[in-house]
Amino acid sequence: MSVNSTQNITWFKACEKEEVPDNGGVCVKYGEEQIALFHFTRRNEWFASQNLCPHRQQMAISRGMIGSQGGEPKVACPFHKKTFSLIDGRCLTGDDTCGLKIYPVKLEGSQVYIGIHNDEALVEALA
Ligand code: FES
Repeated sequence: MSVNSTQNITWFKACEKEEVPDNGGVCVKYGEEQIALFHFTRRNEWFASQNLCPHRQQMAISRGMIGSQGGEPKVACPFHKKTFSLIDGRCLTGDDTCGLKIYPVKLEGSQVYIGIHNDEALVEALA
């Protein structure tokens, strides 16, 4: 795993761009954490969120359908179709009690990096 730190974020190399399907997602592991990584080709944007759906604790978000709602990128869990904003993780289907953790994504050449806040990276390193 390739890692570098900037400011309060540790960036780890998640994968090569070509490993993520157009308008689809993959699951990437960071320690014990599963992260859903999406290439929203139609918007030419990348997003990452926790892979665990908070509704029924299913590791499923990376297999969700992505789309837009009022211009905001979103993902729908494949199980019960709850949808979540890929900008801030809030549930868009009327459930204020659950949301997704969102991670920053950056590209360097053909490589995709996901950012982990340093307090979380330290916790993972100590686990
Ligand atoms: S488990 Fe994801 S919406 Fe129910």
